[in-house]
Amino acid sequence: MDIRFQNLGPEHWKAQVMLAPACQGEDILHQCPELDKAAPWLAVAPARRDFQGKNGELALFHGHPDLPVPRVLAVGLGPREKADAAVLRKAVAAAVQRCREQGFASILLPEPALARLPGGPERLVEESVCAALLALYRFTMLKKAEADEPVDPQWLALGFDGQSVPDGAHAAARRGERAAGAICLARDLANMPANLLPPEALARRAAELAKECGFTCTILESDALAEQGMGALLAVGQGSARPPCLVVLEHAPQGHEQEKPLIFVGKGLTFDTGGICLKPAANMQQMKCDMSGAAAVLAAIAALAREDAPRRVVGLLACAENMPGGRAMRPGDVVRAASGDSVEIVNTDAEGRLALCDALAYAQKQWTPAAVVDIATLTGACAVALGTEVAGLFCDDAALAERIVAAGGACGENYWQLPLWKPYAESLKSEVADICHMGPREGGAINAALFLQHFLQKGVRWAHLDIAGVDWNAKKTPLCPVGASGFGARTLLELARGGVQ
Ligand code: BES
Ligand code: MN
Ligand code: ZN
Repeated sequence: MDIRFQNLGPEHWKAQVMLAPACQGEDILHQCPELDKAAPWLAVAPARRDFQGKNGELALFHGHPDLPVPRVLAVGLGPREKADAAVLRKAVAAAVQRCREQGFASILLPEPALARLPGGPERLVEESVCAALLALYRFTMLKKAEADEPVDPQWLALGFDGQSVPDGAHAAARRGERAAGAICLARDLANMPANLLPPEALARRAAELAKECGFTCTILESDALAEQGMGALLAVGQGSARPPCLVVLEHAPQGHEQEKPLIFVGKGLTFDTGGICLKPAANMQQMKCDMSGAAAVLAAIAALAREDAPRRVVGLLACAENMPGGRAMRPGDVVRAASGDSVEIVNTDAEGRLALCDALAYAQKQWTPAAVVDIATLTGACAVALGTEVAGLFCDDAALAERIVAAGGACGENYWQLPLWKPYAESLKSEVADICHMGPREGGAINAALFLQHFLQKGVRWAHLDIAGVDWNAKKTPLCPVGASGFGARTLLELARGGVQ
């Protein structure tokens, strides 16, 4: 769906349907006076009074089919004091889905109506555009088209009052479009089944995107991993016929080549069977999403390169497939990580931290990071603790943690900070190696985070995002069908757009 603009005020707007966002308990014509000009017939439509403006409510009104705006879709936002960006996102998404079901080819969203809501007009333009595009996301590339499948609207236009579209609003719409593009790319990558997207295919996809968007992509294959001493990442991949790799992405725009990069590290397990410590069969198919962290990193960097963001950003994708093959790592194995530490492996299903620890070491060896942010579907324990709507954040740098919570909160990706509880690091002591990769079941998300922290040098700003649980959407919502959610892509994008202070 194209995002377009119309100006010169409601008398000149034209589309098959106009959305009218409205709060509860207030007359829709008062809230959206543009309707008087764009759809004057609504004033005399008695059915108008059936619309109450409840959160989630949609009401479609029909005028004469030959009018420039023949229909109005009233979009309920609930009580005004609760109508924030999150409510608007969901409402716009539900409205756009309704338009698709109805077969409307063109939609008009009046900007003045957004400007009357709290939150800032440009922000709400950005959020509306992003939500409208997310609403249409489907993972259809492996399916024949169904005969009765609804067709996406061709365009959504933002309607403006003045002679021209303000630059700020124009830019905001483009930002929203770009954010939606990143999220949809992350969803596509994570929804792709593991047979069709093994580590080497994920790396190839990254290289293609690098060419398309203009960032660099280097792939470290098994030999290079061995050269770098990445025994942990190699161990994770060694039970699979498809070898592991580390994908190195860099966006270094002109004039920023020498700046300290912001480094994103993503867990890229294209499938996680658990290895020799095999997972139960129930829901194991969801483990095709165990590369959601890597997908978020790749999608964010592609978006940053596309908009030529004025910041140096590096992305590391630690890719492997955790399989129980004949060469698989075993419980009790000791491997040498890139940091030089020997690591005792207890449960082969705690593989993500092994893949990440080598990538974290590499990040600090190759660059002087402004900050390192890793993102991973790391622990079931995090999903148990926080559920499926809010992700875990581990960070001892208060300013960085605050930036991440703010960046995520603004775009509907919420984080809750959990402690890097130092005393628990005792439980990572090993009888036979420098460190053990896991502690007890209790505090599992914290123990995993503490293991990662072990590989960070003093003074390096670092945050760990545990997105297990939020990476998968089990029930369809206006903003996301069942499947991969793309969670994290936009947080990283906003983090880099805003810079880390
Ligand atoms: N990829 C899983 C974590 C996960 C679980 C992600 C559910 C998404 C949904 C991870 O590799 C894993 O298996 N972790 C183990 C660690 C344990 C063996 C210490 C877990 O959480 O059970
Ligand atoms: Mn696992
Ligand atoms: Zn995993």
